[in-house]
Amino acid sequence: MTKNVLVLPGDGIGPEIVAEAVKVLDAVKSKLSLDINTVDGLLGGAAIDAAGVPLPEDTLAKANDCDAILLGAVGGPKWDQIDPAIRPEKGLLGIRSKLELFGNLRPAILYPQLAEASSLKPEIVAGLDILIVRELTGGIYFGQPRGIRELENGERQGYNTYVYSESEIRRIGKVAFESAMKRDKRVCSVDKANVLEATILWREVMEEVAKDYPEVELSHMYVDNAAMQLVRAPKQFDVMVTGNMFGDILSDAAAMLTGSIGMLPSASLDASGKGMYEPCHGSAPDIAGQGIANPLATILSLAMMLRYSLAELEAADQIEAAVSKVLDQGLRTADIHSEGMQKVSTSEMGDAVVAALA
Ligand code: IPM
Ligand code: MG
Repeated sequence: MTKNVLVLPGDGIGPEIVAEAVKVLDAVKSKLSLDINTVDGLLGGAAIDAAGVPLPEDTLAKANDCDAILLGAVGGPKWDQIDPAIRPEKGLLGIRSKLELFGNLRPAILYPQLAEASSLKPEIVAGLDILIVRELTGGIYFGQPRGIRELENGERQGYNTYVYSESEIRRIGKVAFESAMKRDKRVCSVDKANVLEATILWREVMEEVAKDYPEVELSHMYVDNAAMQLVRAPKQFDVMVTGNMFGDILSDAAAMLTGSIGMLPSASLDASGKGMYEPCHGSAPDIAGQGIANPLATILSLAMMLRYSLAELEAADQIEAAVSKVLDQGLRTADIHSEGMQKVSTSEMGDAVVAALA
């Protein structure tokens, strides 16, 4: 049966990196005779320009119908002054929320070939393999009430609500524990339970979920300490599970341990395993259109898509092996370049992955 993938290039470097991932998908399709069909859609600033809103009905309909979504990135200075209600980011948050893609998996793996590119000493990061499980459709990103209001004294006040229900905590907890079962069987839950009630409940529910996974060791850490430990001794972690905002921040920090945020893929899954796949990095408008962006995070996101949503494990393995091979060959985009390596453009990197697949 044909599987359908919705491709949303988005803004900034999005179209450039997605084009390389689609190239790789086409190559793996013909090599392994996969029956996968792609259709394009608009999201973010590109959708605002074409349709006036960041998440058009047509995109949402296609997203509901497909088996998986491949996304580049959204946003850029062009839309910074726009009404906050229709910012490009609202399109991304909207699609995550409408499709209930609550389980965000952000693996931070250090390719041994890139140990030099990390800002930390090689011995601190060698062999690094962390999985950050971020709750993606709740917490302060979506909590109500929210807004900017005027106080009686005429001063403006901005406010947001940090809120998590038991069921929301439990379902992301399960994702973390299930993931840990396939790894080193350790979960570190990150909260701010010394200050925030919402995360006191978070901690309690994680303890409850842990009872169903006696083989998995659960620990808790405050988010400030977790940020410090990530840069002090990151290899202590196996799976980290946390809320939406803490996960946003910690995953960027974890990304840099691996040399470049340009290397990090992600999966955002619903309860049935349907998912959206995107690089952890943003749209990088400062380097858009120059052909220098690193397409590997998007190509690795494609591999995650084949593994988690399309059940094409062989294709996923082959893409990951091809990425490792081009790194072995010494090919580097600017963000991961170091002395003695060959600097390549976005499309040269995509072509090299395709060649390595052959
Ligand atoms: C991410 C991004 C998004 C987020 C932005 C673009 C809304 O930073 O996927 O990490 O905060 O979730
Ligand atoms: Mg982020």
